[in-house]
Amino acid sequence: MTKRATISAVAHYLPERILTNAELEKTVDTNDEWIRSRTGIAERRVVAEDEATSHMGINSARQIIEKTGIDVAEIDAIIVGTVTPDMFFPSTAALIQDAIGATNAWAFDLNAACSGFIFSLETAAGLIASEKHQKILVVGGDTMTSVLDYEDRTTCILFGDGAGAVLLEPTDGEDGIIDSIMFTDGSGGKRLFMPGGGSRHPATRETVDQRLHYLKQDGREVYKSAVRGMADAAETILSRNGLSGKDLKLFIPHQANKRIIDASAEKLGLSEEQVLINIERVANTTAGTIPIGLSEAVADERLEEGDLLLLSAFGAGFTWGATLIRWGQCQ
Ligand code: UT7
Repeated sequence: MTKRATISAVAHYLPERILTNAELEKTVDTNDEWIRSRTGIAERRVVAEDEATSHMGINSARQIIEKTGIDVAEIDAIIVGTVTPDMFFPSTAALIQDAIGATNAWAFDLNAACSGFIFSLETAAGLIASEKHQKILVVGGDTMTSVLDYEDRTTCILFGDGAGAVLLEPTDGEDGIIDSIMFTDGSGGKRLFMPGGGSRHPATRETVDQRLHYLKQDGREVYKSAVRGMADAAETILSRNGLSGKDLKLFIPHQANKRIIDASAEKLGLSEEQVLINIERVANTTAGTIPIGLSEAVADERLEEGDLLLLSAFGAGFTWGATLIRWGQCQ
């Protein structure tokens, strides 16, 4: 019997600046009606000029430290799910570790795109199970506006900036992460990627001229795979635990497209109250969507001790998965 991990605190940070569909209409060939009806998005947040992914992670981490009153020296590890680190290295996790003064924590980034938070949570749960770690800060966040091509209407309207974090600790109770299921299918890599700036196409004047430093997506293919992946992962995890959709208090899916969320919720037979949707205000923040959703759910008192919660994500890689949690005492 290994130690089970539970979420004992959660927080999130959204930048102040709001970018509305109406503003995007002025710069790219799109319109509010198309964006709302095809994606469910009305507005998204954009970082200030002096902000990057670490700032949003640091803010979330500081809120957790403040509300729990933990000594930062007790944090054993920091894992940051992100595809938009401040820079390639050092990791954003190292930047956060330094900023909050978590001198006893080892820290690293995890690249799994929109599944970054649930993959990081799974990794952290494994470290807790090893009984070598007592307190792990798991952050998910992205500054997607730093990799968006604002001349490409098919992608620039979809994403926003934001981050969230949780504190993961061991539990002896019935609460915590009950089960999880994670997948990768690298053959989907060419459907959603950022070709430039890495070792394949290091940044040069040419790569910038060719706009290789921006996110590229085959939206229709990703859409089909996302609906299938999220629903399959969620259904598998429920059925192998002898559960069905009606047992869930809340489903927090990755927020990429309201139509993907609705299709997944329908397959699981969920009612509106059982599904957290904030895409209208927040858009797709990649690794940020799930911790932001979780933090908003806690703030809105949508979760009580004993409730069953299901998280599910799908993203570049392709990566996808689901995490089943029995909610415990969480600040
Ligand atoms: O989080 C990572 C995972 N990402 C996802 O899960 C995203 C998955 N994909 C999607 O959410 C959807 O595929 C999109 C929202 C990206 C696109 O929606 P769609 O219903 O699949 O539209 P489409 O790509 O089939 O395009 C339909 C039409 C096209 O015009 P034509 O060829 O029919 O004349 C597009 O050029 O809509 C056009 N279009 C737009 N029109 C106005 C595409 N983007 C826009 C836009 N404004 N922003």
